[in-house]
This record gives sequence, C-alpha cells and structure tokens, in this order.
Amino acid sequence: MLQFKLVLLGDSSVGKSSIVNRFVKDSFDEFRESTIGAAFLSQTVTIKDSDANGNEAQEVTVKFEIWDTAGQERYKSLAPMYYRNANAALVVYDITQADSLEKARSWVQELKNKVDDDSLVIYLVGNKIDLATDDDKDKREVEENVAKTYAEENGLLFSEVSAKNGQGIQQVFRSIAEKLYDI
Ligand code: GTP
Ligand code: MG
Repeated sequence: MLQFKLVLLGDSSVGKSSIVNRFVKDSFDEFRESTIGAAFLSQTVTIKDSDANGNEAQEVTVKFEIWDTAGQERYKSLAPMYYRNANAALVVYDITQADSLEKARSWVQELKNKVDDDSLVIYLVGNKIDLATDDDKDKREVEENVAKTYAEENGLLFSEVSAKNGQGIQQVFRSIAEKLYDI
C-alpha cells in the first residue's frame, strides 16, 4: 500500500478540520472547536490504475497520513514541521471570506519558497459552497473564476467543496491520490 503525507493549511475557521472530518468519518459538526497545535488522522482511498492502453487494470489503495494544522496566528510557526516532508498540501480558504483567499495565497507562496521538492502537490480548496445561493442569501465573496485563474497560473489543483454537505470532498483526495500515484 502506498502512503502519502498530506498537510492542511489555511486561515482559522475556513473549515480544515471539517474537511478532514468529512473525509475520514463522513460527518460534520456545526460547532467545531478551533484546532490547538495540530491533529493527526489517517484515511485510505482506492483508485483505479490503468494500463498503457488506458484499460482499467487494478485497484490501488493509497493511505493518507493527514496533519490538520491550526489556523490561528499564534500557531503559525509550527506549520513548517508539518509541511516539511509532505507529499501534498491542501490550502483551504472560505468562499464567504475574501481575506481567507489572501491568506491561502501567502501559504502557497511559503510552500513554493520553503519546500524544495518539486513533486509537492498543492491543491487549493474553496470551502463552504453550501453558503453560495442564487438568492439574496448568497454569502459568496470569492468568485470561482478568480480562484481558478490564480490556481492555473500557479500550477495548483483547484476545486470548490462543502464539508457540510460533502460536495466535492472525496474527489479532492481522489485527485491527489491519482496525481501522486502518477508521479
Ligand atoms: P482552525 O482549527 O481554527 O484552523 O479552523 P478550521 O479551519 O479547522 O475550521 P473548522 O473546521 O473548525 O470550521 C470552522 C467553522 O466553520 C465551524 O463552525 C464549522 O461548522 C464551519 N464549517 C466548516 N465547513 C463548513 C462548510 O462546508 N459549510 C458551512 N456552512 N460551514 C462550515
Ligand atoms: Mg481546525
């Protein structure tokens, strides 16, 4: 079984722990406490390997060892311990908080400056899309295209998700597993 280290980074309350909780336990807490230091969890995903002709050949199980870091400013200096040996980084922002995308950009910059490993997979995640609606209750502050363009320009994987209703969560981890498996 392949094992990969994955770290989550991003501003406090963007939903890092909620994303991990959805992925690992398929559950969601409306009142989740802010993470202290960091939390460690693990989970596997199964992907399909394909042969040279593109035919599905066999299933491959990939295990993620996940470091869910604390987003509060006072823990910022701990982050390098967790991203140093990571194979993948999920940089999370909240689509209802424009500032959180700025914070995400600074994490991406820090990763690009401090991690020499070119094979580090960086995935930008816009969380809380359940709060984007077509009516006057719409809470979106970050347009999908703005984040998507930034991600493309910087070679990041990107998608919007909701830890609350589960939308897009499995696919994030599946895409990372597939990308790391191909490297
Ligand atoms: P720190 O541990 O402080 O870094 O925060 P965090 O990024 O781990 O955020 P956390 O997962 O604790 O979530 C913060 C708050 O946002 C909680 O009240 C969650 O219930 C809420 N939340 C998380 N994900 C979603 C989501 O997809 N939709 C909605 N509506 N709320 C969410
Ligand atoms: Mg947390």
